[in-house]
Amino acid sequence: MHCGDVSARAIAPAGASRGSAEAVDRRDGGTRLGGMDVTEAVAAVNEEVRAVLLGVDVMDQGRADQLLDELDPSPTRERLGGNVTTAASLAVLHAAAALRGVPVWMQLGGGAPTALPRPEVQIIGGGAHAARTVDVQDFMIVPMSARNVDEALVQAAEVYLGVGTALKSRGRVNGVADEGGHWPEVDSHEEALALLVEGIERAGLIPGADVAISLDLAASELAEGEGYRLASEGLWLSRAEWLSRLEQWCTEFPIVALEDPFGEFDLEGLRAATELFGDSRLVIGDDAVVSSAERISEAAAAGRCNAALIKVNQAGTVTAAAEAVRAARDAGWSVIVSARSGETEDVSVAHLAVGWGADLIKVGSITRGERTAKWNELLRIAETLDVPLRPMPAGGQTSTRTNRG
Ligand code: PGA
Ligand code: ZN
Repeated sequence: MHCGDVSARAIAPAGASRGSAEAVDRRDGGTRLGGMDVTEAVAAVNEEVRAVLLGVDVMDQGRADQLLDELDPSPTRERLGGNVTTAASLAVLHAAAALRGVPVWMQLGGGAPTALPRPEVQIIGGGAHAARTVDVQDFMIVPMSARNVDEALVQAAEVYLGVGTALKSRGRVNGVADEGGHWPEVDSHEEALALLVEGIERAGLIPGADVAISLDLAASELAEGEGYRLASEGLWLSRAEWLSRLEQWCTEFPIVALEDPFGEFDLEGLRAATELFGDSRLVIGDDAVVSSAERISEAAAAGRCNAALIKVNQAGTVTAAAEAVRAARDAGWSVIVSARSGETEDVSVAHLAVGWGADLIKVGSITRGERTAKWNELLRIAETLDVPLRPMPAGGQTSTRTNRG
């Protein structure tokens, strides 16, 4: 995007485990690049989107996003493509920041942050990100005692190395999963959880007090009939059995957050999980609320989840994602700003997390360039702001802080 003397660009990410109600990724289909080419999406940016955005003031993000909405009013951006609207919307944001000569986070209008989002870092991949070797998608850690971004990322990297050493000692190192976490060379979910604890200890840290565990169950991917299929264990569990398995994990391991613990259509499961875990843990809706303000408000009113995962490309524009953040805060929810499993070198997510005052930032592991690009950007932002990390919210009701603290 060109604007006066400045030009700016942005790249839309893509996901592997998508909610059914999120904005769709427009791909060409056919045989070229396995059907994943985006020639049509790029043409849409250069023609349709260019035609409506030409002459619009980039300082007016709301107007630019409204024009994108008018091109395709459907929440799933069925016709135009969520990748088209996301890239265009983010490019407007970057252009406005460049024109003012300010960092992108500042352009989001939240004022000077008094704290920064706490990293949530994948250590072992799984689910759709690792050929379903294990069913759970993300085995992550959250540095709890770290006071700043440097400290948190050093702890995460040391835990990552600790788990790597543990796997190596068992002769089971086998590369990395989609988001850079260790490939899940384990025989059970419990073994993966125990490996995390071992990694934390090998790093000289105290499980729970210094570094806690967080899981993305991505349970929509496991839903089958009225229950959940754990293919890696050859098991089908009813809703009640799955809930008690999660409870057992939370009793045995220092788990502070459960993302998508039940499938997006299992409203009763999501409510039951929130009732059971919500006072002391984050129950995060990803596929369950797809960064939609309306869905977040509806879920909150029904007692489902106490935190929202926010992915700008689920909503399709910066404005729509910001509205989702606002709806989450209005409901007293915590906010986690997240990247996708299909990422690029684009670092917008670090700025969105800071600018929107997120509690946590989730961009995958601490390896692979598209992941370290985001952590490095967060480090660079932290260098310019001498502020601590946000305290870890204990549950849904404790986090109504705004960007101004
Ligand atoms: P994705 O999911 O593969 O759709 O990006 C990541 C996540 O569930 O957080
Ligand atoms: Zn998720």
